[in-house]
Amino acid sequence: MALTLPELPYDYDALGEYMSAETLEYHHDKHHKAYIDKGNEKSKKELNNDNFIPAMLDAFKNDQGLFNQLGQHYNHLHFWQWMSPNGGGKKLPGELEKQIESDLGGFDGFRKKFIESGTGQFGSGWVWLAMDKNGKFEVTSTKDGENPICYGKTPLLGCDVWEHSYYIDYRNARQKYLEAFVDHLINWEHVAELYSEGQLKEVA
Ligand SMILES: [Fe+2]
Repeated sequence: MALTLPELPYDYDALGEYMSAETLEYHHDKHHKAYIDKGNEKSKKELNNDNFIPAMLDAFKNDQGLFNQLGQHYNHLHFWQWMSPNGGGKKLPGELEKQIESDLGGFDGFRKKFIESGTGQFGSGWVWLAMDKNGKFEVTSTKDGENPICYGKTPLLGCDVWEHSYYIDYRNARQKYLEAFVDHLINWEHVAELYSEGQLKEVA
């Protein structure tokens, strides 16, 4: 078994005007698939779900070419799940809402920081809500295919700010895309799941 492309968790037209079927077809079927194909091709060992994260971290230190593909595979795997039809906005599960309130000044503070950080990321990259080793939330951005795991943190939510993610629907208006992502697309349930898993890891 090598790495494979999972199907989208919703129909191509399910995100409506906020992310078009055309964007999802290109982004999922072509861009994400290319990262997987190249990752499988460049890796010296057969990759699977169990050895994937250690392989990604090893490549981060030792093989930039392989890391670019594996980092992007990880990021996109979750990106599809970080969105849902009728998502976004302030409907946060309880525990998550409390932590965002104490660390980021509530939903409004989170929204402002997330959009500013994503808009300010120069060139291609990602904007994140991540949890550090002490369980504290932060908003951060990374370049290219990097993600918070590379820096010892747990990614809870990420948004792709490569142009391939928004150019068809928003042209160069990255801020409008980020606003739509926060207000209409975030799958807070998936964020809450990753938050619980991250808390369990800290306890273990
Ligand atoms: Fe992407």
